[in-house]
Amino acid sequence: MKRKLLLFLLAFIPLITAQLSNYNCPATCVLPNCRCASLQPPVANPPQFLLLTFDDSLQADLITTAKALMNRRNPNGCSVRATWFAQVWYTDPTLAQQWYAQGHEIADHSVTHVSPFAGSYAELEGMRAFYSTYAGIPRGKISGVRFPFRNYTLDSINLLSRMNFTYDSSMSNSDHVWPYTMDYGVVSDCINQPNLCGSVGGLNAKGLWEIPMSQSGTTVPHLMDPFNDPTVTAPEKTEDVVSDMLSAFNARYAGNRAPFGVYLHPVWYGKAQPSIPEGSGKLAGVNAFLDAAMKNPDVWMVTGQQLIEYMKKPVPASQLASQPYMDCPTPPPGVCNGLTPSLAVTCNLPNGTISSCFGCPSSYPTLENPAPLRTDTTRCLVPDNCDGIHWDPIGCKCLCTTETCKWKDDSRKVDLDPNSLNGNGTKSNGTAGSGKSSAGEGRGRGVGGVLVGVVLSLVFLVL
Ligand SMILES: *[C@@H]1O[C@H](CO)[C@@H](O)[C@H](O)[C@H]1NC(C)=O
Ligand SMILES: *[C@@H]1O[C@H](CO)[C@@H](O)[C@H](O)[C@H]1NC(C)=O
Ligand SMILES: *[C@@H]1O[C@H](CO)[C@@H](O)[C@H](O)[C@H]1NC(C)=O
Ligand SMILES: *[C@@H]1O[C@H](CO)[C@@H](O)[C@H](O)[C@H]1NC(C)=O
Ligand SMILES: *[C@@H]1O[C@H](CO)[C@@H](O)[C@H](O)[C@H]1NC(C)=O
Ligand SMILES: [Zn+2]
Repeated sequence: MKRKLLLFLLAFIPLITAQLSNYNCPATCVLPNCRCASLQPPVANPPQFLLLTFDDSLQADLITTAKALMNRRNPNGCSVRATWFAQVWYTDPTLAQQWYAQGHEIADHSVTHVSPFAGSYAELEGMRAFYSTYAGIPRGKISGVRFPFRNYTLDSINLLSRMNFTYDSSMSNSDHVWPYTMDYGVVSDCINQPNLCGSVGGLNAKGLWEIPMSQSGTTVPHLMDPFNDPTVTAPEKTEDVVSDMLSAFNARYAGNRAPFGVYLHPVWYGKAQPSIPEGSGKLAGVNAFLDAAMKNPDVWMVTGQQLIEYMKKPVPASQLASQPYMDCPTPPPGVCNGLTPSLAVTCNLPNGTISSCFGCPSSYPTLENPAPLRTDTTRCLVPDNCDGIHWDPIGCKCLCTTETCKWKDDSRKVDLDPNSLNGNGTKSNGTAGSGKSSAGEGRGRGVGGVLVGVVLSLVFLVL
């Protein structure tokens, strides 16, 4: 890590009140595949879900900050879980693999995160190509999306549906609507997308879930990063963070119990960076908030994927502990799966040093070539009949031997050709399946010169 460079990316996106009034969803929309947008909980006495999410790259400092919030347990005694909306640039694949192996979710936040628009097919499939190859996370396990800058359009939502993603979580929602499928339109903040809100033509996203993002404060409007909004003179004392978040939480808990989100860019809550103030006071505030919130009965901290499992077959809070998707994460067996990081290979690339259990890419990932060929193919890639947490890439075998850990990736293989969505793209031979095949298609241009150690992309999202 030689040099620090900051990408300071700002996005000011207005928030619009949910437009439930323009929305017509018929009674034929029923679970598990369809749910109308609604303020009503799906069952009486639902649990209160807490969604802790982190955005952007996975780097050691940022994970340390995130983990500082997660030393707690759900009501069934299992460790809490969280979702990382991860980009490719500046991520260390070994750290992503560890995060995943510990039972957390990795969701898609593009390859580059570069403005003006990082929501294209190449960005979204490229992220899956990189993480499935170099972090051992099967393509089919990357099923959620948050668009960089929360910048989406009618077309990009339709694209998610065609790419078989399970859910989006980019849309703000001031009315605390429960997650819903977009079969009959969108009721969330439509960021001036006239063809997206309400029940309109053009949206073709049947069965695609939206997990709306909602405010985590009351006095100071922050959608993401409580008390880090640069346009608001916000109190930054730990106790102010706690009391503001807690009053929003208590209202929700006593109200419709729509999932309560805490959406963080960890860079704001860690040690000081050039142009970023030290954030430990705010981290302590968020931590104390989570302590207080989780003292209440029936409060569970889950991933987006767990929440969708719940939504498909909702049960009262009293029955949540017996749902299989709430089981404790299976302890990984220990071969280069995150528990033995010393087995990862260090890769000195022109743009910086990363590490991976699967060998080194021949060049730094780019949008055109997000999962470059590996320089050494001795390590075996995760095949589609084994979850990455059970895969030994050195012994080339699946360490899962029981029915409960058995898993088959029935999503299609990574295919970087956008024409493949129309059914006639090129055949991919890249990632999963053939243990020793090359990682990606094609070889990137060599990039010379500048060494970039840590680059932090920051997003402010302002009400
Ligand atoms: C959002 O995407 C559009 C293109 O779809 C682009 O023109 C705009 O600049 C993007 N906004 C941000 C904040 O990236
Ligand atoms: C979506 O899933 C279906 C059914 O599993 C599969 O046939 C199709 O190839 C997938 N399409 C994409 C783009 O992943
Ligand atoms: C990698 O380095 C090249 C050459 O300096 C530069 O053009 C490119 O933007 C860098 N990529 C990243 C992700 O920093
Ligand atoms: C896919 O099929 C269409 C229609 O047959 C054709 O025009 C197009 O060139 C094909 N694309 C590829 C990549 O083969
Ligand atoms: C993958 O495809 C490329 C180009 O189509 C080909 O050159 C390469 O040999 C293939 N690799 C494998 C392992 O099949
Ligand atoms: Zn981001």
